[in-house]
Amino acid sequence: MALNFEVVAKAPATAKAVGIPVTSEGALPKEVSLSRATLETLGFTGKVGQTYVVPAEKGAVSILIGVGEMSKLDTASLRKAAAAFARAASGFESVSTTLAHIGRLDRKVAAQVVVEGMSLATHRYTDLKTVDKKAPKLATVSLVGTGAATSSGVKRGQVIANATNMARDFANMPPAYLTATIFANKAVEIAGQTGLKVEVFNKDQLLAMGCGGIVGVNRGSVEPPRMVRLTYKPTGAKGKPHLVLVGKGVMYDSGGISLKPSDPSHAMMKGDMSGAAAVLATMSTLKALGCTNQVTGYLMCTDNLPSGSAMAMGEVLTMRNGKTVEIHNTDAEGRLILADGLSLAAEQKPDAIVDIATLTGACQRALGNGMAGVMGNNQKWIDQLTAAAERTSDKLWQLPLEREYRPALDSYVADMKNVGGEAGAITAALFLEEFVGDTTWAHIDIAGPMWTDSDNGWLQKGMTGYGTRLLIDAALNFRRPGRA
Ligand code: BES
Ligand code: MN
Ligand code: ZN
Repeated sequence: MALNFEVVAKAPATAKAVGIPVTSEGALPKEVSLSRATLETLGFTGKVGQTYVVPAEKGAVSILIGVGEMSKLDTASLRKAAAAFARAASGFESVSTTLAHIGRLDRKVAAQVVVEGMSLATHRYTDLKTVDKKAPKLATVSLVGTGAATSSGVKRGQVIANATNMARDFANMPPAYLTATIFANKAVEIAGQTGLKVEVFNKDQLLAMGCGGIVGVNRGSVEPPRMVRLTYKPTGAKGKPHLVLVGKGVMYDSGGISLKPSDPSHAMMKGDMSGAAAVLATMSTLKALGCTNQVTGYLMCTDNLPSGSAMAMGEVLTMRNGKTVEIHNTDAEGRLILADGLSLAAEQKPDAIVDIATLTGACQRALGNGMAGVMGNNQKWIDQLTAAAERTSDKLWQLPLEREYRPALDSYVADMKNVGGEAGAITAALFLEEFVGDTTWAHIDIAGPMWTDSDNGWLQKGMTGYGTRLLIDAALNFRRPGRA
């Protein structure tokens, strides 16, 4: 259940706990009954991420929320403090706090990130638990400190956090609960509720369109593929900048004939559609957030399974843009389905494309689980994305699109192979670049941050919904990047 927020002038008497922001230096707020020295012996210094529950004989308990040094408070630390507060307050049905009204931050942004931090930290995927659901009791949060900016920041935060939590739920669903067909049906339903145009393409249509990549990857599966195109047009769309998002939607990645070994971590390959989930979640918010840019989203959906009809090694696929690809590893399937999506995106002649994909273990090993890699053919566009990453804490790190490595993909029978070379994240991006022509494009590899193995801050064990907040921010703030 999504948290419910209200903006109030004064903490309501019904609040069972009151969150009090405490800095790491200077005087303590007068409501705090303990001294700094005592709090320190209890392990609470006011650092961001710390909380301390002060029990009360009667009335509401106080929860001290560390916010660090007031002069250093920014949106990232405020979101983190809010998440810590939500965790500490998770056993109370209703709480209040002044956390959205501290420091010199813009009131709207402060409210937004407090709502994000609290909503993301308390979200659980419990649909498949029949016992021990352990969902937080916390239901209502009263943010003390009124104002139009605060109210609109709360709304914005709720839309963004709910979308991120939706992306998490989709990625957490087991493969049989979310096939390409089911996902496409959900996309149609969501599009209807959020003011988007939606088109669904089935296998016959994809074949007729020459999408040899997605159809090739689908060959081993009894579940048919789906491509979904979502279109958002603001009022007076004509002449507005146009951005296209392309998401990898591999519902389950077994590796195909190049079967992955039986490692428990491969249960996470149900999340190989996290890119498509982030695109759908992003698209669903644009109308509510008043986006003034045109945005198109492609969800490229199929699973990757071995069978008698599966794509073989040495097979050559003809892709949407006519290029031919020799298969040297069926586990490098993401780039094959993205290729068709990127070609279709480029045909629309947009101002920029960004694809988002759980693409390579190489990127995960290089950057870890805390950030995604970004590469592309236009530095100004990459700069817009890294600025969005800064604002949202969906962290990005740029890797070089080193064209000297392109010969590693040369094939003696086709235009290129689907794998090759040492720098796996980079050669994957070089492969994708073959399908965008001269359209401004960037690629975000989220193999690392798609998943987290522990509850920490606003992340909860499991699928993270990474990329949703990043893409929403990038879409809202999109400007024509100009030439590279
Ligand atoms: N979906 C995987 C990448 C992945 C790995 C995502 C770990 C999330 C966590 C992708 O389809 C894949 O299998 N990539 C291969 C590519 C290789 C065969 C060139 C990889 O990274 O091993
Ligand atoms: Mn794979
Ligand atoms: Zn994959």
